[in-house]
Amino acid sequence: MRDIKSLYEKLTKYCSGDVYPFHMPGHKRNALLLDKAYSVDITEIDGFDNLHHPTGILKDIQNQMTKAYSSDKTYILVNGTTCGILTAISACAKAGDKVLVARNCHKSVYNALVMRGLIPEYLYPENDVDFVCSLSVTPESVDSVLQKENNIKAVIITSPTYEGVVSDITGIAKVVHKYNIPLIVDEAHGAHFSFGGGVFPKDGVSCGADVVVQSLHKTLPSLTQTAVLHIKSGLVDIRQIEFYLQVYQSSSPSYLLMSSAVEAVRYMLALNESEYKNYINSIKELRNDLEQIGNLKLLCKKDGVFDYDITRLVFYADNMTSENLCEYLREKRKIELEMCCPYYSIAISTVCDTEEGLKRLYNALKDAALIESKPVMRTTKPYAVNEKADIVMPPYDAYNRPYVTVPISECEGCVSHDTFYLYPPGVPLAVSGERITKSISDQLKTLENRGYTLNGTACEKGYINIIEEEK
Ligand SMILES: Cc1ncc(COP(=O)(O)O)c(C=O)c1O
Repeated sequence: MRDIKSLYEKLTKYCSGDVYPFHMPGHKRNALLLDKAYSVDITEIDGFDNLHHPTGILKDIQNQMTKAYSSDKTYILVNGTTCGILTAISACAKAGDKVLVARNCHKSVYNALVMRGLIPEYLYPENDVDFVCSLSVTPESVDSVLQKENNIKAVIITSPTYEGVVSDITGIAKVVHKYNIPLIVDEAHGAHFSFGGGVFPKDGVSCGADVVVQSLHKTLPSLTQTAVLHIKSGLVDIRQIEFYLQVYQSSSPSYLLMSSAVEAVRYMLALNESEYKNYINSIKELRNDLEQIGNLKLLCKKDGVFDYDITRLVFYADNMTSENLCEYLREKRKIELEMCCPYYSIAISTVCDTEEGLKRLYNALKDAALIESKPVMRTTKPYAVNEKADIVMPPYDAYNRPYVTVPISECEGCVSHDTFYLYPPGVPLAVSGERITKSISDQLKTLENRGYTLNGTACEKGYINIIEEEK
């Protein structure tokens, strides 16, 4: 045992320091809800029900949550939005079925395609030329694919995106329902939309989506891995949903996680109108102040963005790379961001942020923007999500074929065995079974050269798995 490093020691040491978290989980490490972790960690003992076949307290709670969310049925998840997405897709489509997927979806969607043997059709949302991130999916773009492609069994989109871009779910749901199929919305980053009495964008359930999955841990005061799945639909088979939920989740779901999910929802319901207003006003003030900083650009609602979640702070500086900005904030100002990529950085704000925390971020960014440095060449090449994929074979087919590992420098023109992406955000550059175009291979090289580790590639840095016989 002496040879195993203590993760807990590292965590407690880090968390007892003064670094302010602008990242998930949304509780921002305020132990406001559960303070007795070990002493309440139990299993399915008498009186505590069974998440997979609830008949007691968990059934009551899920019924109350269903009412609170005005859904047909709300389920507590202990394995993140990931298991909710796998469940939703598995329940709506079976092997060989076609599904319509927005290309900026999270990797869990592509994993579902492989696991369930599905055939994807893709929607390519426009890219913002400045921030190099996806804009909203439009109802018209969904309609134009559905008109051409018959036999699509479900539509899957992400709203809000990691960057806070919200799509017109009401309009998209109307279109999708014309074809009598369900709309699945990955609302992992929008769990707070269900609360606040209108200070946040509208949530997917109230906009008419059939299945909505929200990560409670990202923006609510809930422990990591907690999420909820809502059904509001006559187009989804609840038996199938319940079957796959128990397939993709532990047979020993944590009572600590479940309690945390419930307490987070209770917390959000208990906040009053003026508490939500005060929070959103301090975000508006912060954004106004940030917009005055020369050298700093903040993503906001613009053409191509149906609605925007202003609690998501997405920015880049003209005078330094996002990597250097993140390092400056971490090392010099004790601020840890949610993510940094070649194009921008993201800070996540939630109702648990303090005035002191928001001020610290503003002061640090104001000072960072004054640091003199050589002019920065921002990478402006689009992250490949809006490029039409060259699909050679379906993902499940490709993933089940033999592969060889080649250096990234030799992968152009080959067919990818794996789905690979930067994590976060987990949006793929290429999906299993797609040809690696020159633009994708150039991006791979750029990202590798800038020190990013691609996920889904061969374990060894700088290599990639391709389909064997295509080499
Ligand atoms: C858009 C999106 N969907 C789904 C997920 C998966 O969520 P979880 O971490 O709750 O499994 C993420 C995770 O970051 C995400 O960004």
